[in-house]
Order: sequence, then structure tokens, then C-alpha cells
Amino acid sequence: MSDLIIPNHVAIIMDGNGRWAKRRGLPRRLGHKAGCDTLERMVEDCADTGIRILTVYAFSTENWKRSGDEVSALMQLFRFYIPRLKKRVMAKNVRVRVIGDESRFDEDLREGLRDLKESTREHTRMDFVLALNYGSRDEIIRAVRKIGTEAAQGNLLPEEISEELLSSYLDTADIPDPDLVIRTSGEERLSNFLMWQSAYSELYFTDTLWPDFDHETLMEAIKAYNSRERRFGGRKGENDE
Ligand code: IPE
Ligand code: IPE
Ligand code: MG
Repeated sequence: MSDLIIPNHVAIIMDGNGRWAKRRGLPRRLGHKAGCDTLERMVEDCADTGIRILTVYAFSTENWKRSGDEVSALMQLFRFYIPRLKKRVMAKNVRVRVIGDESRFDEDLREGLRDLKESTREHTRMDFVLALNYGSRDEIIRAVRKIGTEAAQGNLLPEEISEELLSSYLDTADIPDPDLVIRTSGEERLSNFLMWQSAYSELYFTDTLWPDFDHETLMEAIKAYNSRERRFGGRKGENDE
């Protein structure tokens, strides 16, 4: 147990809130609320486990297409949970970052997120990265537009566009790629999450619905990660040597 390698960066697609609620005959909103409670616990748990970066997919660019009722319930939950998360991350020395296009959120929500980021910017124990209105395609398009503008202004030659350069224009610019991507609820797809960044990540799928995710499920994922032989296109992972 103690000799398990803890992945540096774990990214989680938190799926299954709706099904969790449905199984209990509850409205979807209460599934999302239970999911937020789980997230609150897991931020602490991941920091205690020694994970250095935790990224969670909280709201996708496609999630705006859900019913108006569900979208506004989610926005209300974000409003309610920001101060609660703040207490946890302040107590645990966790730094909050946001990836995704925040500009589509209401000003009060954006202010809450700004405050979360600013009050934790010096924290060093773990980076907690919230993917909000995030989609890989949107992120790449926004990056390519900026690169195109630089090129059009003559600040950049097309041959200077490299993997490193594109990476540096993504929302994740200074965040290392995830080592382990977990998706809950039995679905086995990325749904537009960190598609560029997870090129060589290990993928782990569990049937557990996100509200039921706990320390034990996390450790099962980490054990599975430890049993994999990591390869990076013909090169073995440094941990294998
Ligand atoms: C994930 O749970 C939470 C968000 C996408 C915001 P879902 O709402 O997708 O739950 P299911 O997939 O319907 O069970
Ligand atoms: C992915 O889950 C998005 C989040 C977890 C925020 P979805 O439930 O929205 O994805 P699809 O629709 O099943 O692909
Ligand atoms: Mg879902």
C-alpha cells in the first residue's frame, strides 16, 4: 500500500449525478448537490493522498444545452459551493485555478471565482483546477485564434508553431499533463475534456456514480494506475526504470 506511486496530476470527469438522483427518485438537482458534496470531500482527500494537481470537469461547453432549469440549478449550486470550497482550500493550503471560458458566467459567479483564485494564489500543497465552461475544442480554437493574431501581426512565423507553443496558449499553459484521467458512471469517453493534454494519460473508468465516489474508489484507480506499464510512444515511463 505505502509503496504505491501517487500520480502527480489526476483529472476526473465527474459523471453520473443525474442517474444517482434518478435511482433514488430525486430531482436531478439533488444529484448535482450530492456531487458537489463529494467534490468538497475529495479535494481534501486528494491533497491528503499526496496528489499535487487535481483537475475536475465541473461544467462543459456542451452542458449549456441542458434544460434551462438544470443549467440554473447548476449555477445556483456553484454560487452556494464557492464559499464552502474556499473554507476547505484555505484550511488545506490548496491553490485554485480555473480552465475554460469564464466569460459566459454571470458577473457575481466570476467575482466568486476571482476571489477563490486570488485568495489561494500563494498556496503550495495542491493545485485544484476547476474546468468550468470548458471544452477542449473551444480551448484549442481560442488558442489558435491568438496564435493566428500574432502571426497576422508578424510576431510569429508559421514554422515557429510547435507543440510547446500551442500548449503555451492553452488554458492549461503552465500545468503539467494529467497522468491519470478517471471517469465515473461507466461511460467510456472523454466528452471534450483535456483532449490535447491527455494524449498519453492513463484512462480509468469506474461504474461508481460520482456522488458515491470516495477514498476507496480513488485508491482503486491509483492501484490500477500502478499496475499499468506507462509508455510514451515507444519510450517507457520514468517510474518504470
Ligand atoms: C455530471 O452528471 C455532472 C455534470 C455534467 C454537470 P450528469 O448530470 O451528467 O449525470 P448523468 O450522466 O445524467 O447521470
Ligand atoms: C461530461 O459529462 C461533462 C462533465 C462531467 C462536466 P456529460 O454527462 O455532460 O457528458 P456526455 O454528454 O455524457 O458525453
Ligand atoms: Mg452525464
